[in-house]
Amino acid sequence: MIPDKAPKEDVFHCPENLKEESHIPSFEKYKEEYIRSIENPDEFWGAIAKDFFWKTKHTGRFLEYNFDVTKGEIFIKCMEGATTNICYNLLDRNVHDKKLGDRIAFFWEGNEPGDELTVTYGELLQRVCQFANVLKSLGVKKGDRVSIYMPMVVELVVAMLACVRIGAVHSIVFAGFSSESLCERIIDSQCSLLVTADGFYRGDKLINLKFLADEALQKCREKGFPVKKSIVLKHLSKEPEEVVGSQSPPAKRSCPDLELHWNPDVDLCWHTLMKGASDQCEPEWCESEDPLFILYTSGSTGKPKGVLHTVSGYLLFVATTFKLVFDHQPDDVYWCTADIGWITGHSYITYGPLANGASSVLFEGLPTYPDMSRMWAIVDKYRVTKFYTAPTAIRMLMKYGSEPVQRYTRKSLKVLGTVGEPINPEAWQWYYSVVGEGRCPVVDTFWQTETGGHVLTPLPAATPMKPGSATFPFFGVVPAILNDSGEELEGPSEGYLVFKQPWPGVMRTVYGNHERFETTYFRKFPGYYVTGDGCRRDEDGYYWITGRIDDMLNVSGHLLSTAEVESALVEHKAVAEAAVVSRPHPVKGESLYCFVTLTDGATYNATLEAELRKQVREKIGAIATPDYIQNAPGLPKTRSGKIMRRVLRKIACGEKDMGDISTLADSGVVDELYRNRCCTTA
Ligand code: PRX
Repeated sequence: MIPDKAPKEDVFHCPENLKEESHIPSFEKYKEEYIRSIENPDEFWGAIAKDFFWKTKHTGRFLEYNFDVTKGEIFIKCMEGATTNICYNLLDRNVHDKKLGDRIAFFWEGNEPGDELTVTYGELLQRVCQFANVLKSLGVKKGDRVSIYMPMVVELVVAMLACVRIGAVHSIVFAGFSSESLCERIIDSQCSLLVTADGFYRGDKLINLKFLADEALQKCREKGFPVKKSIVLKHLSKEPEEVVGSQSPPAKRSCPDLELHWNPDVDLCWHTLMKGASDQCEPEWCESEDPLFILYTSGSTGKPKGVLHTVSGYLLFVATTFKLVFDHQPDDVYWCTADIGWITGHSYITYGPLANGASSVLFEGLPTYPDMSRMWAIVDKYRVTKFYTAPTAIRMLMKYGSEPVQRYTRKSLKVLGTVGEPINPEAWQWYYSVVGEGRCPVVDTFWQTETGGHVLTPLPAATPMKPGSATFPFFGVVPAILNDSGEELEGPSEGYLVFKQPWPGVMRTVYGNHERFETTYFRKFPGYYVTGDGCRRDEDGYYWITGRIDDMLNVSGHLLSTAEVESALVEHKAVAEAAVVSRPHPVKGESLYCFVTLTDGATYNATLEAELRKQVREKIGAIATPDYIQNAPGLPKTRSGKIMRRVLRKIACGEKDMGDISTLADSGVVDELYRNRCCTTA
């Protein structure tokens, strides 16, 4: 599967100076370790586990599993018998055993340049213990779910690790999601408490987060699920005496327009609670397979799935992928631009970096605010060495050319990473040659919320890179490509990307719905975990992700299901039916093209179109705002009534050749839809 010889052409090699300090300095070493990780996982992961603290040791095999639905229930167990606490491993172990108490854990950079603060490992431990005590005082116990809806502030990390310290399960909801989405997630995971903030700025736009949180709690009450308490961080409306540590004064984020409604029965002030809390808190020792967190991802039925990750396997996997994929060194300053509300932020802002004692930048703002140079200004300011972002951000900045990049030196950069969607070779080349000036390897990391961490990825000093390819499997990961009949394809081929065995960080279940877990990932091809992505393997054994092959769309690196957007549209009284497909977009990768059939008597006009956009934003969030909406008096359907999406995709892309449409009940609708197709976005 992995080639014997290095490929000949179109490849980029790592500069020699990086190899000198690298954990995996050659492709030979990668192959050797890869084989060891597959043939002897107990030995491979066992050696890694020695770096961490276990209250009790594991008994039996390192990984036990069943991946075959025909043989019984699907399960994955890692290090059974071991007990540990991840918060202890991330903080106490670094502060006390490794003497890193004074090391910076986070350089927090606010939305507004100049709004900044630093937090050391020692300070983080103190604050996490205090907040863990706050949670305990409110009755939160091991196994309870806590919903977190916060902007990118240090307190978000504090809240998540405080849950981990007491064995509670965090369920973080991205602060860009709507109140409806928050309510749905709170109820699905039966959260007993919400942690949120007053508001934040995204560029110059003020977001009243508390207003959205209040709306969500109101909706929960209406649905018979009252959340008793909501802890509110005053991020914008903080009083001067509430400023902690080396933080700049809150005047930098003055917000005269933020209207806050305080509900004394529900709302509790973060700062008041913290003032009285002790900074000593014994960690709760958890079993390896105790739940760690739930994170929702779009599901093809429209209802989001609560992906559940558990303690020991996730810790080892994210710690190891972080260390090797970014070739972490003690003097690194690492920056991942994702939001903690997504899996990238969970694994590669909080868990992976802190498990390695890394110093990271935590950025609240936007790459374009106050100008197109912001990313590079931050890179120079903190001397960032390892930088991780999404192809959509690269494509957006690329539009403005190299000048905004070259205003800064970027000389500290050593490794560049991408995640979230396929990166087109032009964007890869720009990233590599303009941002990295040809001296920084680009690690194109393929993974999913479900995989917990990187599963296909180059290692910076070992893997010759091909622009657009996620290259080879990480240690412990065994990919295969299947055809429609479920047969494994050898050599150069294209088909379904699947995995043949678990690795420590793979998800364990869909929260509260194991049946859905088995159906979504294991029923189509028994014996394999099915990613939902298409993939090509070339003659050199490199893997190239070709995109989703289910009803999912990837907009700016965020997965959305077509069904989710369709159900938001049909909730409008003027819409009888909706069909949503993907249309390629030069910056976002994909965009949403929506066909709507109106109810009798409704009229299609600009006001309705604006209402529909608003409707989707309010139901899901701004990331799901439709780019194109087309009035479709009729949709192309087969005689059995199934919408032929293939035809709609062609119309959305302006392609005339529809292929075989002989099975359509009324092929006349196709011409009409094509004639009236949208050419420009709103
Ligand atoms: O389609 C793949 C795409 O993003 C999906 C996973 O999305 P999510 O669970 O939201 O996690 C995103 C961050 C890990 C995948 O099924 N994807 C992610 N990374 C890549 C990618 N597609 C191609 N290349 C990548 N590097």
